[in-house]
Amino acid sequence: MTKCIDEKELLALEAKYCSYGDTVHYIDPPKLFERCDGSWLYDVQDRPYLDLQMWYSAVNFGYRNSEIAAAHDEQMSRMPQLACQYLNKEKILLATEIATETEKRFGMKGRVHFNVGGAQAVEDSMKLIRNFRNGKSLMFAFMGGYHGRTLGCSEITSSYRYRRRYGHFGSRASFIPYPYCYRCFYGLKRESCGYECVNQFEKLFETEYYGVLDPKAKETEFAAFYVEPIQATGGYIAPPPEYFSKLDKILKRYNILLVDDEIQMGFYRTGKLWAMEHFGVKPDVITFAKSLTNGLNPLSGVWAKEEMITPEIFPAGSTHSTFSSNPLGTAAGLATMQYIKRHDLETSVREKGEYLLNRIRELQARHTVIGDVDGVGLAIRIEMTKADGFAPDKALADKIVDEAMKGDIEVKGKKYGLVLDIGGHYKNAFTLAPALTISYEEMDLFIELFEALLKRCGV
Ligand SMILES: Cc1ncc(COP(=O)(O)O)c(C=O)c1O
Repeated sequence: MTKCIDEKELLALEAKYCSYGDTVHYIDPPKLFERCDGSWLYDVQDRPYLDLQMWYSAVNFGYRNSEIAAAHDEQMSRMPQLACQYLNKEKILLATEIATETEKRFGMKGRVHFNVGGAQAVEDSMKLIRNFRNGKSLMFAFMGGYHGRTLGCSEITSSYRYRRRYGHFGSRASFIPYPYCYRCFYGLKRESCGYECVNQFEKLFETEYYGVLDPKAKETEFAAFYVEPIQATGGYIAPPPEYFSKLDKILKRYNILLVDDEIQMGFYRTGKLWAMEHFGVKPDVITFAKSLTNGLNPLSGVWAKEEMITPEIFPAGSTHSTFSSNPLGTAAGLATMQYIKRHDLETSVREKGEYLLNRIRELQARHTVIGDVDGVGLAIRIEMTKADGFAPDKALADKIVDEAMKGDIEVKGKKYGLVLDIGGHYKNAFTLAPALTISYEEMDLFIELFEALLKRCGV
């Protein structure tokens, strides 16, 4: 940012010249930041903000992670630009890393296809599926799921809010209740529900009159089920342990592909390369983006099992974007995969996640407005409620975010801000995604800051 223009002037220019349509202004006025490092953002007055959100999990390995940045910088000084019809070794090695690491985990051969943003990867996955299923275009997806905001992705993202002003483009998904057990769609309790949500899904295939299956042709109208392994924007909600294996049995029976959208939960957010590894099922397609480059360059991709993506089935030109496998992005992506191999993230993320979750549970015991706390690895949810511990309290969550952004919470004589994001079906859940490199001292500081914010909000 140019130093000679002050914050007030910049915000005035923003109000005049920037579209608001390409972003989400949760706070008013929007916040300006000047620099970042590790788990920290610094505003124009150089006040530190502990980031528990890390660019919606696009910076899992910490701001300006030197090991990943070094590869990006080396590429910048050697060959930062190259048309994607030619090859650079980083693209080939990155695809090789992702394909071989995925094969190790799921035992399936496949190939990798690159693009730029998360939504574009999801769009490409839809093309792969429609192509493989001879143009079949109907999808299942979850209530509360989020897969991006292009016209195509909005059709499989449940919120009508994202479609309301644009009409339809293609086929709107059939949205199935997500296993959000704290607020079960069917009003049941996890201990005794017998996976009623899966039973209800299975029921759709019972008779042709439920509009899903032609029993005579033994064929469904649906090509794929798009899932997030842990619902992300929906509020960092993990399904119960056997949910996906039970669902997958039904999908296999009816030849419906399972698409695993790892855009937010991939790259060790949950302590695994792919969060779906926690649930013992093998996806047919995986989409990924965000932390692939640790946020240094927009790069995304799709992994698909071999039979869906061979050069015969999906030849050159099936889809294309100018910047798809650009050298800076693929160099950063390759460095990310190498970083993952050098550091035992499986252990450290599990241990840090357990520590942070336990500390938040201690807070929950002291504050009845913390209704639900849960997490897998370092994907942790805190759901804010009224004092009854259940009625959603969006206003309280919003107030906490506003106060956290002021940058003036005092702990041991020093002032801090806190970067938090709100998600969830009722927009009352903090979706905590700290840097996987966060220290134990920083996690303790978060607890102090969060408790100070609760006190400030009078709860
Ligand atoms: C699970 C999931 N899928 C897709 C997307 C869309 O990615 P992008 O915003 O890069 O288009 C997101 C973004 O938050 C996401 O969380």
